[in-house]
Order: sequence, then C-alpha cells, then structure tokens
Amino acid sequence: MTTVRQIGILTGGGDCPGLNPVIRAVTRRAIQSELTVIGIRNGWKGLVEGDTIPLNLQAVSGILPKGGTILGTSRTNPYKRPEDHERLVANITKLKLDALIAIGGEDTLGVATKLSKEGVKVVGVPKTIDNDLSATDYTFGFDTAVNIATEAIDRLHTTAESHHRIMVAEVMGRHAGWIATAAGIAGGADVILIPEEPIDLAAVCDLLKKRHARGKDFSIVVIAEGAQFKAGTVPVKQDEKVDEFGHVRLGGIGHLLGALIEERTGYETRVTVLGHLQRGGSPTAFDRILGTRFGVKAVELVLEGRFGQMVSLQGNEVKGIPIEQATGKLKTVDMGLYKIAKIFFG
Ligand code: F6P
Repeated sequence: MTTVRQIGILTGGGDCPGLNPVIRAVTRRAIQSELTVIGIRNGWKGLVEGDTIPLNLQAVSGILPKGGTILGTSRTNPYKRPEDHERLVANITKLKLDALIAIGGEDTLGVATKLSKEGVKVVGVPKTIDNDLSATDYTFGFDTAVNIATEAIDRLHTTAESHHRIMVAEVMGRHAGWIATAAGIAGGADVILIPEEPIDLAAVCDLLKKRHARGKDFSIVVIAEGAQFKAGTVPVKQDEKVDEFGHVRLGGIGHLLGALIEERTGYETRVTVLGHLQRGGSPTAFDRILGTRFGVKAVELVLEGRFGQMVSLQGNEVKGIPIEQATGKLKTVDMGLYKIAKIFFG
C-alpha cells in the first residue's frame, strides 16, 4: 500500500460527454477516503505550467449533467519538448501530488504510460467518443455521440423523403467506424461507410440505384470521417495542420462523396457534417453512469497502489488493467456488427 494524501486529476485530448461525471466521482470518492484533490487545467499543459484549481465538494456540485470538462483540455504532448517534460515532473513534486489520474484517449494514455514507466504514480481513465480504445468494451461519450447521430439521421430521413433526395451524413470516427455503424443501424441508414472497409463508389451508386428502382426515391448514406475510397486515396483533410501528436484534421469526405454520388446517379444529393455537435452537450444516462463507475474505480486503484493501470469496462464489470493494453492497438469495428448493418443496405 502507498500512502496517498493528495491526488491530481486532468483531462486531455478531445473533450467528450461524461468527463464531468468522472471528475465528480473521483473527487467525491477521494474525499470519502480523506484525500485532497487538485484539478489540473487543460491536460498535460496545466501540469507543465503548474496551472491548477482545488477540487472540493462545492467545485464538483452540479457538474454531473454538463458536457465538456470543467478542467479544460488540450492536445499538448509534454514529450515534444524536453523542457516541458522536465517542468511537468518538477511540478508533480512541487504540487505535492502523490498520484495522478489522467483521463484521456490514445495520446493522453500514451503519455501516462511513459510517465508511469519513469516512476510517476499514474492511473488512467479511458475516454473517446470514437470507442476505438482497446481493452475496454465501451468508453463514455460514445453512447451520447451515437444518440445525437441517430437523432440527426431520423431528422434527415423526413426531409430526404419529402424532397426525394440522397442525404449523406458525415459522422466522427478518425480510425474506426463505431459511431457510423451504431448510429447507422439505429437510424436505418441505407449505406454505411467506415474506415475499416475502403469505399467502392460504383457499388454504393449501384445500391442506391437499385433502391430507387424498387420505389424508394430517397436514401440515407452515413459515412465516418476517416473512411477512404478504394485504391489508396488519402483521407480528405480540412487543412494541413497537425496537432502535437501528429493527427491531421479530418472532415470533408462527406462532401466529396455527395458530389460523386450526384454526378454518377443523377439523384439530387445533400450533405450534412455533424462534426463537434457529436461531442458537445449533456451526456446520456449511460455515459453518466459509466463515467461515475470509472471515476470511483480510478480512486480505488490509487488507494490500492495499482499504478500504471487504467479502468476498463469488461462485460458489466469495471476492472483495473495495464494502461498500455489500451494504447497498443486500435479497436476497430466488430465486423460481425457491420455484417448485420449490411443486411439493411439498399
Ligand atoms: O478523437 C476523437 C475525435 O472526435 C475524432 O473522431 C475527430 O477526428 C477528432 O476528435 C476531432 O477533434 P478536434 O477537432 O478537437 O481536433
């Protein structure tokens, strides 16, 4: 057992509905065991700069249903500049942090793994709306994003039907098509395109034509932002900028696809890019509960001295597992699920 009196907590990477429930649960569970909690602002950036706020009962009151993160976030990579790494390690001592809870996706947890190997006492909490982290069945935020995308598809359906149009809905999913597949099934999409399977444009147009031939003169096509056309076309970029972890900004494949469908089928086509609407706003009950369970378990891992571990949902159980299990390999879409989605194509 390690004597822990004070813990730090940070949220890194893209925000996600469910972060505040985790922050609240960590704070409440820590206070129950008489620990002090320090909130670190804006992810690893705040630890480099020593930018913190105390977290107590008052600070976390009322945040459960709120989207985003009260701590703020950033995509700062403290390993990018050696001086940042030095400042970060020095601040852990200066702030008297006996342990650190890092909530984030692949990049934030990657930094947590490296720090843990250097002896920093870290516990991870997995987060991403994309649901593409390995070693956990679900991440919070995904359910909220799927619900938002499903509602959008429902709305697109009625206007598609009235105008006899093709509606292309572009959803998030940089490397994996979980949101597209889940929301596409739930919303009754006629075609779902995901990064796991290169797009065969001729086959897509054929499906739409056959559907129209059987009297359905409107269609819904759901596409994940990271989907690519066959023959190795690179992802469509919004611009050339990359973040500190080297990720390009995606977005734009939906518009390209819409134009190609219209050109090749002659059907009037409109495109909707859902973008950050999927990441904003209040978390669903599922994500509030999952975030709460993750937060409580994270503190328990700290109290048990199980550093270098992260919380993970396995079946209906929340367990502690080594952090690197989440970051080594992406969790791509279950092709069995995608096969079910395909039954309803066309
Ligand atoms: O990583 C989650 C994610 O939602 C991706 O699907 C998307 O490409 C990315 O975040 C966009 O994030 P931002 O615009 O904040 O860089």
